[in-house]
Amino acid sequence: MKIAIILGTRPEIIKMSPIIRECERRGLDYYILHTGQHYSFEMDRVFFDELNLPSARYNLDVGSGTHGRQTATMLSGIEDILMRDVPDVVLVQGDTNTVLAGTLAASKLHIKVGHVEAGLRSFDRVMPEETNRVIADHISDYLFAPTETSRQYLLEEGIQDERIFVTGNTIVDAVYQNLEIAKAKVDITERPGLVEGEYLLATAHRVENVDDRGRLAGILDGFRCVYEEFGMLIVFPAHPRTVKMISIFGFDVPSGVLMIEPLGYLEFLQIESSARLVLTDSGGLQEEACILGVGCVTLRDNTERPETVKVHANILVGCDSVRIVDGVRKMIKKDGDWENPYGDGKASERIVDTVVNQGQYIP
Ligand code: UD1
Ligand code: UDP
Repeated sequence: MKIAIILGTRPEIIKMSPIIRECERRGLDYYILHTGQHYSFEMDRVFFDELNLPSARYNLDVGSGTHGRQTATMLSGIEDILMRDVPDVVLVQGDTNTVLAGTLAASKLHIKVGHVEAGLRSFDRVMPEETNRVIADHISDYLFAPTETSRQYLLEEGIQDERIFVTGNTIVDAVYQNLEIAKAKVDITERPGLVEGEYLLATAHRVENVDDRGRLAGILDGFRCVYEEFGMLIVFPAHPRTVKMISIFGFDVPSGVLMIEPLGYLEFLQIESSARLVLTDSGGLQEEACILGVGCVTLRDNTERPETVKVHANILVGCDSVRIVDGVRKMIKKDGDWENPYGDGKASERIVDTVVNQGQYIP
């Protein structure tokens, strides 16, 4: 049994890390194929270093580009490698262009594919990720759904129950495996102005938000208003796409917002777990904040993580500054005492069990 783990972006490295560790622990024959969709040190290498992950056997170095060009370059590069170094199973995670290319390449070569984090739906096809998710789910052989909600979405689309395995989300495994290490290694107070529970953490990078002048302006104005009302520093580790768009639009970052480089996972996790609230449009942050007991204000009109809203850990506010402030008012009162809907931190064990047992999950 040989497994190929295909990844390419920051969240895929983080959410695949528990699966990679599980493969290592069991001494399995596996390799990592990195598409190079993310390539800057702070979006890529830092996670391999901090999480002690083995280097990728292959890196396609595709870099940035339009969706068609980027996906096509990955598709042909992945196909070449899968034909040369033939695995029994390919694993992909999430909803990026890397996932679309990896799933398509493997499926056409009749190599079995396991989709980790299957069955998420925002029902919003404006998001490039929604197209990627739907296609990946429909052509994968093993659908690792994090929750029963995701399983139901897949069943409603006509996917056979035998292909679906509810495992929990590997982000819980990643948080449990790394939080203590983060606490021991990172002292948040070394960053000027950070006092536990007395600052907010913000991120934004969704293309439909940050590439849109009006929506990005609304987010920044929302941050300004939140700082004015609550007087709490907003730490904003900005994604390179967002930095680029702030500069192209010629926006100023409001006072009270500490815009910094993207952070490594250990520092980010520690800053997130000690934040009073999270403001974000990230998928992974909605889950992580919920797991950590930190309230989340989501800068979107919909979410493929409805479980977080259902347990009252998250509220959707879009990009309008009035609604952003109102969301913060509501969420700041919460005590963080909700249940974690994403599992017990053993998703990676279940996923590797299922792959090794060729589709039979044996608890
Ligand atoms: C991608 C995923 C998105 C995911 C996000 C995680 C798709 C369609 N989008 O979005 O689902 O949530 O990753 O962060 O797959 N850039 C750099 N350095 C890097 C990577 C990107 O400077 O290492 C800059 C480039 O200007 C690039 C832009 O960021 O054009 C966007 O990168 P890209 O990978 O196309 O999309 P993301 O917004 O990162
Ligand atoms: N993250 C990080 N450093 C940062 C911002 C985010 O390590 O500066 C981590 C975060 O903890 C989470 C993941 O990156 O696990 C989320 O990735 P992102 O928001 O880029 O993508 P999404 O989850 O929206 O696909």
